[in-house]
Amino acid sequence: MAPREFDIEAIRADFPILGRPLPNGAKLAYLDNGATSQKPQAVINKLREVYETYNSNVHRGIHQLGDRVTVELEAAREKVQRFLGARESAEIIFTSGTTMSINLVANAWGRKFLKPGDEIVLNEMEHHANLVPWQQVAKATGAKLRFIPLTADGRLDESHFDRIITSKTKLITVTAMSNVLGTINPIQELTTRAKQVGAVIMVDGAQSVPHMLTNVLSPAIDFLAFSGHKIYGPTGIGVLYGRRELLTAMDPFMCGGNMIDEVKLESSTWGELPSKFEAGTLPIAEAIGLGAAIDYVQSIGFDAIHTQEIKLLERALRLLPQTSGVTVYGPSIEHRGAIVSFTVEKVHPHDLADLFDQKGVAVRAGHHCTMPLHEWLDVSATARASFAFYNTEAEVDALIDAIHYARHKFRLE
Ligand code: ALA
Repeated sequence: MAPREFDIEAIRADFPILGRPLPNGAKLAYLDNGATSQKPQAVINKLREVYETYNSNVHRGIHQLGDRVTVELEAAREKVQRFLGARESAEIIFTSGTTMSINLVANAWGRKFLKPGDEIVLNEMEHHANLVPWQQVAKATGAKLRFIPLTADGRLDESHFDRIITSKTKLITVTAMSNVLGTINPIQELTTRAKQVGAVIMVDGAQSVPHMLTNVLSPAIDFLAFSGHKIYGPTGIGVLYGRRELLTAMDPFMCGGNMIDEVKLESSTWGELPSKFEAGTLPIAEAIGLGAAIDYVQSIGFDAIHTQEIKLLERALRLLPQTSGVTVYGPSIEHRGAIVSFTVEKVHPHDLADLFDQKGVAVRAGHHCTMPLHEWLDVSATARASFAFYNTEAEVDALIDAIHYARHKFRLE
C-alpha cells in the first residue's frame, strides 16, 4: 500500500491527546517521545475492539472467542515479522518491552554460553537496560565487560574497534540510537566485526525502530529488542527478534504455562518457538494493538517520518546553540536521530522541565537511565527533547521560548 500524503494537521488529528489542552490550560508541545510516544486513534480503537468483541485467552480450538483472538495475535506477530524483515514469525517473541527482551537474552543466552575469559563488548552510551543485565551475567559467568570509547562528540570511536573486538569477544551489544545523544551507531560495521570474530550481535532498537526502517537480515544481526509503546503502540508489549538457531539453542528464561511441551513431576520439555519464551498469559490486547501501530506507521512511511523528524532536528540543532546559556550534547545531524539533550547554565534540568511544563512543553530531565554516560558528559543531568513525526516546527520554537521563560524566571535575562 502506498503511504498516504504527509499532511501534518491530518496526522496530528489522528492522535486525540495532541489536541487536548493541558490541566493548566496550556497547549501541549509533547517533546518526550523517547520516553513514550502518543497513540493514534487506530491503536486506541484496536484495544477497544479486542476488549469489546473478542477478549479471551489465546486458546485456538477451545471456543470462538479464543479462535478469533488467536488469529488476531498471530496476525500481529506476522506484521512484526514483515516489519523487521525476519524470516519467520516464530523468531518474533512477544515480551513486556525492550528491558525484558534484553534480560531474556542476557539470562537465556548469556548464562548458558558465556565462560570465564569471554568478553562482552559494550560502550558508555548504553541505557541501563543494556548494561546492568550484562554486569550481572558477567558476574555469574566470569565473562568480562569491554567498553568501546566514545569520540568527543559522542559517537563510538571506530579507531578502537580492532583493540576491543577480538577473538575473545562473544557478544557485541549496542543501541542503534542513543536515547540521550541521538547518536546513530554503525550497526553494519559492528555486525561485520562480530561475524569476523565469531561473536553474536544484539541491537537495542528501542529508540531506532520507531524512526527508521529496520531489517534484521540487512545487516544480519542476531538479536533485536524494541518496545511497543515507543512506536505508537500500547505499553506492556515489546519484541525480541532472535535468529532461530540461537533461540533453539537457548534454555527458557521464564517457565510456566504455555511454554512447555511435556511436564512430568521431576522434569519438563519445552514447546516450539515462539511459545518456549512466552510463559504465562501474554499482553494479548497490547500485542494486537502493536500490530495496529505498525500498520499506522507504515501508512505514513519511514521516508515521510524521516523527512519531518530531520526538519525538526535541524531546527532544534540550529536554534538551541543560539540561545544564551545552552549547551547541546551529541554529534552533528548526519550522525543522529531526532533527540537533543542539553543543559542551560545555572538552571538545573529538573527546574527547566518544571518551568517548561508551565508552558505546556513536555521534555524529560535527569540522567535518562544512562548514569555512566552522564558521568562521561560530566553533568549530573540533562534536559531532553525527543521528537516524533507529529511534532511541528512551532513546537521547536515553543521549546526555545520555554528556555527564555526559564532563564527569565531565574533572572538570567
Ligand atoms: N528509556 C526511555 C527513555 O529514554 C524511558 O526515556
